[in-house]
Formats: sequence, structure tokens, C-alpha cells
Amino acid sequence: MEIIRIPRIALDTCRKHLLKGRSIGFVPTMGALHEGHLSLIRRSRSENDITAGSIFVNPMQFGPSEDFDKYPRDIENDIRKMRDEEVDILFMPDRSVIYPERFSTYINIGELSGKLCGRFRPGHFTGVATIVSKLFNIINPTRAYFGQKDFQQTVTIKKMVKDLNFNIDVVVCPTVREPDGLAMSSRNTYLNEEQRKAASVIFKCLTKASDMIKSGIINPEQAKELMLKAISEEALITDTDYASVYDPETLDEITEMSGDVLLAVAVQVGTTRLIDNVLINM
Ligand code: PAF
Repeated sequence: MEIIRIPRIALDTCRKHLLKGRSIGFVPTMGALHEGHLSLIRRSRSENDITAGSIFVNPMQFGPSEDFDKYPRDIENDIRKMRDEEVDILFMPDRSVIYPERFSTYINIGELSGKLCGRFRPGHFTGVATIVSKLFNIINPTRAYFGQKDFQQTVTIKKMVKDLNFNIDVVVCPTVREPDGLAMSSRNTYLNEEQRKAASVIFKCLTKASDMIKSGIINPEQAKELMLKAISEEALITDTDYASVYDPETLDEITEMSGDVLLAVAVQVGTTRLIDNVLINM
């Protein structure tokens, strides 16, 4: 595995592979790798000649009161995991080469970035789109891999790829879950034992609502109520940002089911914000 820290070198290395007709699969990460990330790497390896990963904790996507400083960093283990998964190229830039002094260009996705999590994390999706566009320009991947857990992230990146004519296939991979259903996330490491148990209510409420819809009760309001009730019964969930039924393309809350629907939840367990979703194909 080649570890590269300088954008120009990563760009030249990837370009050499592309010129030889090799496809490049790309898995961007912020490190603290778990099985969810590894599943993206495995998928990329099965679909491409070369797999590139990146590790960069992107300060631009964290709000001033968010967890940038305490975000889990485990660089030695991350490198080992990437190597074990036979990643070919690991791009691990320093902050100063990504955002040098006087950096001032941002990618604003528009309306989509203000929905769902965007309402509670202003600027977050501008930060994500800006770093992902920079990484895309450096790696020039054929395909890029993202997990469905961050559903809004996948929608905004697809929109950016379309609007800005990136010639990249965005591949969305299934959420990888713990045995009790909790979606894998680097932030799960913040939870103490009791909070960790309580957090399983997120997937339980999504499953209940999804089962209800699949059984023919196609009333979004009822599905929303059921989710909110299940969440409210869990004392360690300290806040609910949202839990409802959405249009998976516009991310608007829906009042009538027609076509595919997204059930999505964002809650606070103590100081940890957790999100999850289930997509139902109708
Ligand atoms: O999903 C993440 O880990 C990050 O948002 C990403 C896509 C690596 C951009 O920093």
C-alpha cells in the first residue's frame, strides 16, 4: 500500500493508473475505521482494478460547537486495517495542504443541504461537498463508495456530481449494523454501556415503522408517531432532531405515500448525535 500525503503526488499516481486503463475505486473516510468502512473497501476492490482510500478529519464539516477536537483518531490501526484490506493507495493529507492559507472556495449544494441534518448542522454539507470535490479532483476515481447510513450525504454528493459534471459513479452501499441493529459509526465509541444499549432503539423504531408500512398501513403520520413514541420511551435519548417519513430524492417530509420512502432518524444520546435510516421501495 502506497501512503501519499501530497495532493500533487496522489494526483500523478492515480493518473498513471488511469492512463494504463485501470479503474480506480475510492473510499473517502475520516478514519476511526469500522466494519462499515471495510465493507466499502471490499466492494471497491471487487469492482475496480485499483482501490484508493483517504483519511482526513475534515474541519470544515464540523460546526463550532461540534466534536472536531474529540473525533476519534486511531491512525496506526487505520493504516493497518487499510493494509489488511489490500488498499493500493492511501491518501492522508495534512490540513495545511488541503486548506492552505487564504483558501476561499466552497461548494454549496443549495436547498438539499438545508434539509434533515442540515437544519441542525448549518454548513455541514458545504464542508462535505467541498472536501469530497477536492478529493475527487485529486484521485479522479472511476467509482466512489459511500454508506447509506449517511443518506443525506449520499444525496448531496450525487447532486454535486451531476451538477458539476464529475465523471464518477457514486455507489451507495448498505449500512453495516451491530448484532442489535445499531448502525456502525465512529461516533458509537463515545457511548457508555448504558447509552450503547439505549441507542438500539433507533433501528428498532425504524424497523417497527417499516414493518407497519410494508404491512399495508401506508399513513406517514402513523409511522412518524410510532417512531417518536418508541424513542420517547427510551430515557437515555435526550433529544430528537427528527424522526419521520421523507421523499428520498427531495428529502422533504411527506404526508402521502407514493413511490419509495425514506424513514430517517436523528437523536441525541447524551452528547452524542446518532443518525440512521431505512429506505422502503414501494
Ligand atoms: O462520511 C465521511 O466520513 C465524511 O463525511 C467524508 C465523506 C469522508 C468527507 O469528509
